[in-house]
Amino acid sequence: MKQVRIGTIGGAGWIGQVHAATFQNVQRIFEEDNGIPVFQIVSDVDEAKVKQVQAKFNYKSYTTNWKEVVTHPEVDLVDIATPNHLHYEMAKLALENGKHVFCEKPLTLTAKQSAELARIAQEKGVVNYVAFNNLMNPANQHVAHLVQTGALGKITRVTGTYDQDMLLDEALPIAWRHLNKFAGSGALGDLCSHLLSVLQMILGDMDQVNGIQSIVIPERPKSAGSSETVQVENDDIVQFLARYQNGAIASIGSSRIATGRKNYFQYEIQGTEGTVYYDLERLNEIHLYLKADEGENMGFRKVLLNPHHGEFGAFQPAAGIAIGFNDMKIIEAHQLLGALVCGESYLSDFAFGAKIDAIDQAVLRSITSKSWEKIEK
Ligand SMILES: NC(=O)c1ccc[n+]([C@@H]2O[C@H](COP(=O)([O-])OP(=O)(O)OC[C@H]3O[C@@H](n4cnc5c(N)ncnc54)[C@H](O)[C@@H]3O)[C@@H](O)[C@H]2O)c1
Repeated sequence: MKQVRIGTIGGAGWIGQVHAATFQNVQRIFEEDNGIPVFQIVSDVDEAKVKQVQAKFNYKSYTTNWKEVVTHPEVDLVDIATPNHLHYEMAKLALENGKHVFCEKPLTLTAKQSAELARIAQEKGVVNYVAFNNLMNPANQHVAHLVQTGALGKITRVTGTYDQDMLLDEALPIAWRHLNKFAGSGALGDLCSHLLSVLQMILGDMDQVNGIQSIVIPERPKSAGSSETVQVENDDIVQFLARYQNGAIASIGSSRIATGRKNYFQYEIQGTEGTVYYDLERLNEIHLYLKADEGENMGFRKVLLNPHHGEFGAFQPAAGIAIGFNDMKIIEAHQLLGALVCGESYLSDFAFGAKIDAIDQAVLRSITSKSWEKIEK
């Protein structure tokens, strides 16, 4: 079995450790031969934490200099889990060194940078995978199947939001997520990009948008407990109207200060023959209404995830036995390794990442211009 030697950058952070945990588990869940992940090297600027992470996941070595990862002769796959502004430079150098690249979302701060990365990856013939893990959720894949097989008829209207209250507390200090040079945007790129990736998979290309935003907590302490404050630069809340190329009209939003909402990634898709709604806080339930079912028992039915849906069957043999967030990441790692070792196809490549970045940018432009903006190709 082929070994896939992984070099992780930003490995001591939240999602960097989730990546390592999922690479550890992918082989235990999936039986196909998609290669053996080998923990070659981990990098982070926080030396104390990266040493702990090296020991926790048994990486062969660690470094505080990320360039050692992208040039390492014994690294096949560079795994980028750093704040957004670093993705472009890191992915570019990794690609130029002929590495396969797995990069967290959003891919870069602009669609132009993302498209450039997509072009280099194509020239080099390497795997280029953006971590839009909600695409791997069997529920979202089943909804895509329902829409694409015409079960819902012509899609007419879409509503969706991705809300959390993780940043509701005004006492939380300023962080990279609040500053545009590091994050590019606020809730839009951080949360809403996940929802946009799923709607892109289900509905195809978006045509135009018109948005508004709100910064509700305009400044935050410079550090925990400090009386000195720093200005928050990007959207706590974003909301926009959109039109898809298939004619459906949409109202989409996101908030990182949505009181009481913990991981409310919710959407409803209405068609001429049926409607589906989904909420990630109830990951294992899809709500489906089909016009054909009309009669004395009309109404939405709750469809529990089961082995007919995506890769659910790799985890559980029977319907309704719940799967969770890290399982989506495990499916993602499985697909990534399958692309790398067996040449399998995947949706979430850098060109796909560039499309989501182009939507984010059009929303930001429309907020400034106060008018409709086209999604640039
Ligand atoms: N797919 C998902 O569901 C998901 C969830 C959370 C975060 N993310 C994405 O993951 C990325 C990281 O987010 P996070 O919440 O894990 O952030 P985080 O702040 O917890 O972790 C980032 C890590 O990068 C390290 N780092 C910063 N600069 C570095 C450098 N020059 N070299 C090496 N390491 C460096 C930091 O020290 C930190 O350990 C972001 O792009 C975010 O959008 C994705």
